Parts: sequence; structure tokens; C-alpha cells
Amino acid sequence: MGLRKDFLWGGATAANQLEGGYDQDGRGLANVDVAPVGEDRRAIISGEKKHLDFDDEHFYPAKEAIDHYNRYKEDIALFGEMGFKTYRLSIAWTRIFPKGDEKEPNEAGLKFYEDLFKECHKYGIEPLVTITHFDCPMHLIKEYGGWRNRKMLDFYENLTRTLFTRYKGLVKYWLTFNEINIILHAPFMGAGIVFEEGENKKEVLYRAAHHELVASAMATKIAHEVDPKNQVGCMLAAGKNYPNSPRPIDVLAAQQADRQNYFFIDVQSRGEYPAYALKELEREGIEIPFEEGDRELLKEHTVDFISFSYYSSRVASGDPEVNEKTEGNIFASVKNPYLEASEWGWQIDPLGLRITMNDIYDRYQKPLFIVENGLGAIDKPDENGYVEDDYRIDYLASHIKAMKEAVELDGVDLMGYTSWGCIDLVSAGTGEMKKRYGFIYVDRDNKGNGTLERTPKKSFHWYKKVIETNGEDLSND
Ligand code: BG6
Repeated sequence: MGLRKDFLWGGATAANQLEGGYDQDGRGLANVDVAPVGEDRRAIISGEKKHLDFDDEHFYPAKEAIDHYNRYKEDIALFGEMGFKTYRLSIAWTRIFPKGDEKEPNEAGLKFYEDLFKECHKYGIEPLVTITHFDCPMHLIKEYGGWRNRKMLDFYENLTRTLFTRYKGLVKYWLTFNEINIILHAPFMGAGIVFEEGENKKEVLYRAAHHELVASAMATKIAHEVDPKNQVGCMLAAGKNYPNSPRPIDVLAAQQADRQNYFFIDVQSRGEYPAYALKELEREGIEIPFEEGDRELLKEHTVDFISFSYYSSRVASGDPEVNEKTEGNIFASVKNPYLEASEWGWQIDPLGLRITMNDIYDRYQKPLFIVENGLGAIDKPDENGYVEDDYRIDYLASHIKAMKEAVELDGVDLMGYTSWGCIDLVSAGTGEMKKRYGFIYVDRDNKGNGTLERTPKKSFHWYKKVIETNGEDLSND
């Protein structure tokens, strides 16, 4: 019984949401930098509104974020204090290749992550590295159109080979693309895509997805060649779709909605396009830009493990009249009347995590890794900056309990768990700072005011105990 002895407990972040230092040491500009906080953000990250530079009208939270770039030692020390076994972070592509298409990397960028990885190892923390977490160099978007262009494969190859070579021995767990299925929902953020007037959006997206899928297989191949100890995972924004009712049309709708997400992992894990996707694309006259060698690459270089984020389950309906949607979520779905929701309207469903884990494990039979889970909430610090975040502890405890049940009662093979935003950071969906997930409070607001001081919350001490007991003690006392 219980979780693996070497279970990888930890927390997760993404470069653009915490590093800041957007122009330090030669870093270039990326799509994620020009996404402002506020109303326009959704239209920009979805590629509907073209916005490729800074202006004076908006506030751009990624520019300074929480200044982790200059404070990473302090932050990693706090992760060490909690007993993290792993820390999931992402590489800012534009620190390594500022424009994206250079031949030679930027040494200062490489050195930053090398030092950061060494810092992790000081505390016995194994880095888990996302190669691309929503970032794409701005130059590649302006010159090549982002992932809609097959040339991106060359640039990604150069990036990944550089990383695997330089960090051999320092990093062994890699993820190729964060939430690869986000491309269908926020294509500018997911793949640097801005739509042109009148084009077939679905075609653009699936062609770009093909490039990412081939790039992912190529990176997996290189990772294994450079060091057979490397383990590479795919990464899915997961959440089981429940049918809105037992009506067969709703059940079919739920199956189809699940397949829209699993499509990506079917390719990355099974190594080929699933029949249902081929049929659908053929029906719609969408041609996948297969080139010579793509099929073999996909088939021979599948991922070692399946990682995913889970915040909520989803609901699908086959009835067009039913359209009361959940709010505030890039992955909006029909509302589930049986669930409570967070302050941002994300529905809370711990049992859904167990169901989702079983679904994924049944489908792929590869080890799973939960690399994001958490509650975005408004925290109210006392005069010392201390936050009593029992609501966060409740959320996490109930999800970890469900996760353990999937392992202990259902036999799911699980490598680890990293909660999202282990230190407060900028929200990807809204750009806000006040949507906090962390165990560590960071004094900064939506407009960039604050001292950036770090203060452990109540959940910090709770999570430390959870890790110490390998998940056996989830009590809040
Ligand atoms: C996931 C992303 O979609 O959800 C993270 O991988 C993101 O980057 C997280 O921050 C939570 O979403 P949000 O919009 O609350 O930041």
C-alpha cells in the first residue's frame, strides 16, 4: 500500500510566470511577454487580436513577474525547506536563443539554468524541465508565423539538442510541450499563432499541431540518444468529460470531447494518428502536412511517461440548447450542478482526478505524473504577511486523497505530484497576481506594486508534513 518510496513530491512553475528579468543577460522577447493583464488578454492569447509588441496602455506582468530570475536561490531554499523531491520549471526559450533562429546559444542564458539546476541538487531536488511552457520567440512569430511553419522544427531541434547536451547529468526528466492541447484554445500562447482574415482556423491549428507533435518525437529521440537515462514525457491539460445526462447524444459528445484532448497524447504515446482523428480531418478536407520520415519518427520515439495538469473535470452535452458554461477557464465546459466552484468559476472535483487518472492509465498503460493541480484563490495576509489558507489545504488534501486512491485502490502507476504555482506567480489565463496558488506568499499586486517579499503560508507547513509522511498524513492541524 501507499505511494512509491521514491515518489516525486514537489511544485511546478513556468518561466514567463515567475522569472521576470525579461531583458536581462541578452534574453529576447517572447509571445508570453506581450500578453497584458486585463480584458484584452483572452483575445490576444487566443490569436484573435494581433498584438505583437508592448504599448503604454497595458501592464505586462511577465516583464518582472516575481523576479525569480534574481531571487531563485531564496525560492529554491524554501522549496528545499518543504522537502521537495522535484521542482518542475520551464526554460525560457529566448534566454537560450534570443531570436530563436540563431545557430549559437546565448551562454548567459545557459549558465542561468545550469546554476539553477545545481542549486536544486544542493537540496536533493531533481529538476523536471518543461522545454516549452507557452513561450515562442517573438522573432519566430514575426518572421515565420510560429508553429504554423515547419521551419520551427529546425529551431526546436537546435534548442533541444543544446539543452540535452548542456544539462546532461543535471536533468533527467523532461516535458516537451506544456499542455499541448492548449493549441486548440489559446493558439497564440500555445503556438505563436495569429489568425489571418478568412483562413480555415481548424486547418491552421491541426497543421501547427502536427509540427509540434513531430518536434516532440524528434526531441524524445535526441534526449534518448544524448543520454539513455533521460525520461521524456508529454503533457496534457486533462480533465475527464462527463456526459451532461445518460442520453446517448450526451455520452457521444463526452467521448468526442475527450478525444479532442487525447488526440495529442494518442500520437505522442502510441506513435500514430488515431483513426477517429484521421476520419474527422479527412471529412473536413484538412490535410495533415506529413513529410517523409514523420510517420516513422512518431512511431519509434514515443514518450516514456504521461504527465498532465488537473484542475477540474468537464461536462459535455450533445444538445446545442444546453450552453450554460463555466466561467474564467480557457477550458470552459458545461456547468456541473453537483460541484462547487473556485472564485474564478473553476469547478472543484477531487473524485474527478481519480476518474481522470484511471481513464488515462487505462488508455496508455504508461507511468503517469501529475505535474499541475491547485486552487487559484484570493489570499488575505495578516500584518506580518502570513496567510491562513485552509481553503487551499482543503483543496489539495482532497485531491491528494483521490490521487492516492487511484494508486492504492485502482493500481495506477504514478511517479509524482507537483502542485501548480508552489510560489505565488502570474496567472497564465488572466495575467493577475491576485489569483494565487502558492505555499509562499509574494508581496506583489496586479499592477506590479509590492515589495516582492516571500512569506510561507499555512499550507507551506502542511505540505512539508505531507511530503515527510509520503502523503500518509493529510490532516490540517
Ligand atoms: C495551466 C498552465 O493551464 O494552468 C499554467 O499550464 C497555468 O501555466 C495554470 O498557470 C493555472 O491557470 P491560471 O490561468 O489560473 O494561471
